[in-house]
Amino acid sequence: MNTNRKVVLVGAGFVGMSMAYSILNQGGVDELVLIDVVKDKAIGEEMDLSHCLPYAPQKMVIKAGDYSECKDASIVVITAGLSQKPGQSRLELAVANAKIVKEITENVKASGFEGIYIVASNPVDLMTYVVAQVSGAPKSKVFGSGTVLDTARLRYLIADYLGISSKNVHAYILGEHGDSSLVPWEHCYVGCKKMIDIMKDNNHPMDDLKKIHDGVWKAAYEIIEKKKATYYGIGMALTRLVKAVLNDENSILTISSYLDHEYGQNGIYIGVPAIINKDGVKELLELKLNKEDQDKFNHSCEIMKENIKNEIDPILK
Ligand code: LAC
Repeated sequence: MNTNRKVVLVGAGFVGMSMAYSILNQGGVDELVLIDVVKDKAIGEEMDLSHCLPYAPQKMVIKAGDYSECKDASIVVITAGLSQKPGQSRLELAVANAKIVKEITENVKASGFEGIYIVASNPVDLMTYVVAQVSGAPKSKVFGSGTVLDTARLRYLIADYLGISSKNVHAYILGEHGDSSLVPWEHCYVGCKKMIDIMKDNNHPMDDLKKIHDGVWKAAYEIIEKKKATYYGIGMALTRLVKAVLNDENSILTISSYLDHEYGQNGIYIGVPAIINKDGVKELLELKLNKEDQDKFNHSCEIMKENIKNEIDPILK
C-alpha cells in the first residue's frame, strides 16, 4: 500500500477531468491536484469537483495548484496536449505534443518529484518516451496508458460477441496505441477456455476475430467523428492504473513500457502486458508470440522507431 495517496494531474481537459471524476467516484486517492496552462480552467474544475464531495464515497482534497505540488506526490498523470481531430491519426500529434510534454516533464522534474509518471497524452507511446528521456527517471517509474483502453475495448467487444461478462475475458491488445496494434488471439481466453476453441466449437467464422479487432482500433476514429473527442474510456483506464499503483496491486495491465530486449525489441515504449505495483512497472509478462503476431508487433515497433528518429529525438536534442 502507498500511504501517500497524492496524485497530480497535468492537463485539466476532458481526458484529465474524466479521470478526476472517476477517481472521485471510486475513492482511493486522498489528494488530487489539478494543473493546467489555463489556470482558471483548473480552478473552475476544482470548484465543480469539490461540490461532489458531500456525495462521494470518501473525502478527498481537490485543488488547483502548480508544479511545486509534485514534490511529495506519488503519481503525476500527464494528459495535456492536443487531441485528435476527425480523420487525424494520433501520430500526427507527435511533434506538437512532444514540445508540450517535454516542457511539462521539465517542470515536474524541477519540483524534485520522485514518484511515478503515468503518461496519457497522444501519441502515448512516443510521449512516454519523451517523459522518460527528459525526466531521466528509472525505467520502472515511467509508463504510458498504452493499450489499456484498447484492451478494455477488446474485452468489451468479445464479451458482447459471446454474451459473456467482460470480467471473464482475458485478452490483450499489444503494440502501438493506434492503428498498428494487434491481438495475439492464441493468448486470448474466456474463462479458462481459448477464444480460438470457442470460435471453432460454436462454428463462429474466424473472420469475426478480425472484425472485433477492427472495432477496437477504429473505435477512437468513430467516436471522434461523432462526438469530437474520447474521454470517459481513457479516464477510467487511467483511474485503473492509478489504483494499481496506489494499492500495490501487482495487476497485469497493458501499459506502454520500455522494452529492454523483450520481444526482441529495445529502446522504445510500446503496449505490452506488465505487472504494475507501487514501484510502477515491476516486470513484463512476456508472451511467446507466433510468427505472424511477432511480425505485426515488429511492424508496430518500427513505426515507433521511425517516429522517434525523425520527429521526437530532434526535439529532445
Ligand atoms: C482513444 C484516445 C484516448 O483511443 O487515444 O480514445
